[in-house]
Amino acid sequence: MIEIPVDIPGQPSSVFVARGALENLPSILTMHAATKLPRRVLLCFDRNCSVHAQQAVRVLRAAGVIVTEFGLLAAEDAKSAAVVETIWDAALAARLDRGDSFIAIGGGIVGDLVGFAAATYLRGVRVVQIPTTLLSMVDAAIGGKTGINRTLPEGGLGKNLVGAFWQPSITIVDANTLRTLPKRELRSGLAECIKHGLIADASLFRDIAHDASELANNHEPSMDRLLPRAIVVKTAIVARDPLERCERAKLNLGHTFGHAIETLPTDHGKLLHGEAVAIGLVAAAAAARALKMVSAEEASSIANALASCELPRTFHGETSAAEVIRRMGFDKKFEGGVMKLILPRGIGACEIVENPPHEVVLEGLRAIGIA
Ligand SMILES: NC(=O)c1ccc[n+]([C@@H]2O[C@H](COP(=O)([O-])OP(=O)(O)OC[C@H]3O[C@@H](n4cnc5c(N)ncnc54)[C@H](O)[C@@H]3O)[C@@H](O)[C@H]2O)c1
Repeated sequence: MIEIPVDIPGQPSSVFVARGALENLPSILTMHAATKLPRRVLLCFDRNCSVHAQQAVRVLRAAGVIVTEFGLLAAEDAKSAAVVETIWDAALAARLDRGDSFIAIGGGIVGDLVGFAAATYLRGVRVVQIPTTLLSMVDAAIGGKTGINRTLPEGGLGKNLVGAFWQPSITIVDANTLRTLPKRELRSGLAECIKHGLIADASLFRDIAHDASELANNHEPSMDRLLPRAIVVKTAIVARDPLERCERAKLNLGHTFGHAIETLPTDHGKLLHGEAVAIGLVAAAAAARALKMVSAEEASSIANALASCELPRTFHGETSAAEVIRRMGFDKKFEGGVMKLILPRGIGACEIVENPPHEVVLEGLRAIGIA
């Protein structure tokens, strides 16, 4: 088992990475000072992860813990205040007190929802995050960002607009849970791993590119090598900037372009988050190329790594540069606001670029097929 500390002043936490960790859940909770073995837990799980949740329920009950199970639907519109209320009420019905714990088993949707419910129930109870998607293992379940979506006044879904920073007492990564994850979701998570390499670890980026076809098919030895290295990129940044005052924003590399296209219909249906990020990384690389922050070879190595992981690199659907720029919020820039774009500087570093020239943004969009 690998323990990766998350050194946030006043809120130290850890990520445990071990295949088969779920089977040893009670001993992992016991060994960690921040968790101990709670008397009662509200175990909230993604209904698509019932098999993993049942394993956790069985071992916790065998260890004498009183477990209340609560199944959730992992859909963006379930990241709502109404669902948080149902979690609070389930905790009240189970008589959870401040010494007890929530456990979240699922991907980023369940983790964000349950984390927010834990942050607010009795003004804050412990939450153990057990991520089951690659994206949540290397990103969402680490660093304590929790939250729900809200409908915007002008209509449309405003993502993660209400939430709290609430560090998990621990995060437990059991890569066996990836065995049931659909391959498309797995590959979507690889986009975030590539992003982590681009932000802070050139050798991680090269190794993902090298092992891409194994990783895209969940080859377990390759995945076991990848996970701790990708997690360390996130824990190190979060420890330096837990409240996203500056450096943590670098984790949004590829996301400004990506978010703008994520909810647009495409010729092949809806993009997954990581697929939109993959396309966003290609756009960011082209914008960085226009600013001479990456070479032509580096920009193509980024696109090639994404291709090897079977991720999309261009957008296929009805839209225009003007529409995407509006969705990026960059139309306001041209009215005097300060807009920020995270761009790679070579491979293994990135920078926050304020008010990038309009032509640079257009260059990024052209690279992903939007004119
Ligand atoms: N808090 C953060 O720092 C942070 C960071 C990135 C993303 N997010 C949030 O994470 C969410 C996306 O999370 P995600 O990509 O992890 O996916 P998800 O939670 O949307 O799950 C994706 C799909 O996979 C299914 N699934 C999950 N694990 C499975 C498993 N092991 N076996 C079978 N099916 C499984 C789910 O039921 C769902 O259908 C978004 O809401 C995003 O806003 C949060």
